[in-house]
Amino acid sequence: MPRRFHIETVGCQMNVLDSELVTASLLAAGYEAARNRREADVVLFNTCSVRQHAEDKVYSALGRLKHLKDQHPHKIIAVLGCMAQKDQAGIFKRAPHVDLVVGPGQIGRLPLLLAQVAAARQPLMEVSLGRRAASRAEVEQSFEAYDPIRIVQARQSVHQAMVRVMFGCDKFCTYCIVPSVRGPEQSRPFDEIESEVRQLADQGCVEVTLLGQTVNSYQATAGGRRVGLADLLYRLNSVEGLRRIKFVTNYPRGMGDDLLQAVRDLQKVAPYLHVPAQSGSNAILKRMKRGYAVEEYRQLLERIRATVPGAAVTSDFIVGFCGETEQDFEQTVDLVRFGRFKNSFIFKYSPRAGTKADELFDADVPEDVKRRRNNELLAVQNAISQEENEPFVGRAVEILVEGPSKAAEKQARQGSIVQLTGRTACDRIVVFDGDPSLAGRMLQVEIESANSFTLFARPARRPGTA
Ligand code: SAH
Ligand code: SF4
Ligand code: F3S
Repeated sequence: MPRRFHIETVGCQMNVLDSELVTASLLAAGYEAARNRREADVVLFNTCSVRQHAEDKVYSALGRLKHLKDQHPHKIIAVLGCMAQKDQAGIFKRAPHVDLVVGPGQIGRLPLLLAQVAAARQPLMEVSLGRRAASRAEVEQSFEAYDPIRIVQARQSVHQAMVRVMFGCDKFCTYCIVPSVRGPEQSRPFDEIESEVRQLADQGCVEVTLLGQTVNSYQATAGGRRVGLADLLYRLNSVEGLRRIKFVTNYPRGMGDDLLQAVRDLQKVAPYLHVPAQSGSNAILKRMKRGYAVEEYRQLLERIRATVPGAAVTSDFIVGFCGETEQDFEQTVDLVRFGRFKNSFIFKYSPRAGTKADELFDADVPEDVKRRRNNELLAVQNAISQEENEPFVGRAVEILVEGPSKAAEKQARQGSIVQLTGRTACDRIVVFDGDPSLAGRMLQVEIESANSFTLFARPARRPGTA
């Protein structure tokens, strides 16, 4: 019976959460965490298909594992997540040394599936139905929901956790693979989410981030009436021990006033809204089938500014989508200037087999043009991020201390002073020197300087001396 596992994760926060849940289920089944691929009896890759690059990374890691598998034929190699759902048996073709392929809708059964593979010693694949393969109800069921076990040992941080509020996506933006690999939109029951958050708070968690591909589409029933994300925020705001609530990702349509008012009025809800625009050109938005015009997106930004003054808004943009002209791109630059986003994630369009865009449009923007547009837009955004960060200099802000920075992780001992990171309520990263035992605390710090990405604060006093 294999005992030690090692899991590697690419992709979005949903995948990070799934890997945590897989880790929890394996620990509960008696497995132990190994330090690396070599020491592990089971090597798992939790994969992403959103762009070609994410897939290439995993296929090349799998390629490098072939040698190890030849030397240790009993090592089990498993591919989980979105790429498993997208490529299915194609993974065995490209990497015949893979033993197990498991879609995001089956990972709840992973301990069982691993036991099966170990016993039968032959490849196994478990994936969900395609979106058009059966009735909606059958497809929904094939993305199996599971009640996660949340244990502190499986998490990267005791103090912060992600909580899924919904599965899947029904928006079908033409460029995007997510609706096919993550299945139909399904909201988790209201009470189930609440009890999971209470459990996390009891474990010492002070911050939760609610996750959904379009988190503001959350819909359920509670107490006999229909409830949405705003209602959920009201309910979670009363969870004792919890200090901060965030939620990602918002779909621009459906940012109701009730949601914005909840963000304004609820003390624990962070004034931070990730609302990807994708493009500033109506022609492109239409081709992307985003369901809004840029004027509506601008009005949304104005509504956010009016309702939640000081809120940090962040966005995603795709450059070089099919047919994007220089003029379309300039309109995106204009939107970034107008939006004054705290930051934006900018991606070069990556054609995805199985999407409408790949079927219908010519991916006609050359790679070097995409690269230039990416760099240009990033430069505009970075200058804005810097300008938006500068007013913090000289101000005292409250942060949630996350723990030692990456660079300081190795030296972090209690009683020593190392570089720590924390975040403001509006999701700005703050770096300062302090005692690692401050992790999980809310702390007032004074900002001394800032760049586009980070606020730098004065060293914190030792805990207990404040
Ligand atoms: N549900 C979220 C996140 C989807 S994936 C949302 O709707 O915003 C995260 C980001 O990846 C998207 O916002 C989009 O900017 C980008 N993305 C998705 N498909 C892509 C593709 N084919 N090529 C490049 N970027 C893509
Ligand atoms: Fe993809 Fe659009 Fe759904 Fe986001 S809303 S996951 S971009 S299809
Ligand atoms: Fe990637 Fe799947 Fe997330 S495709 S972005 S890991 S939902």
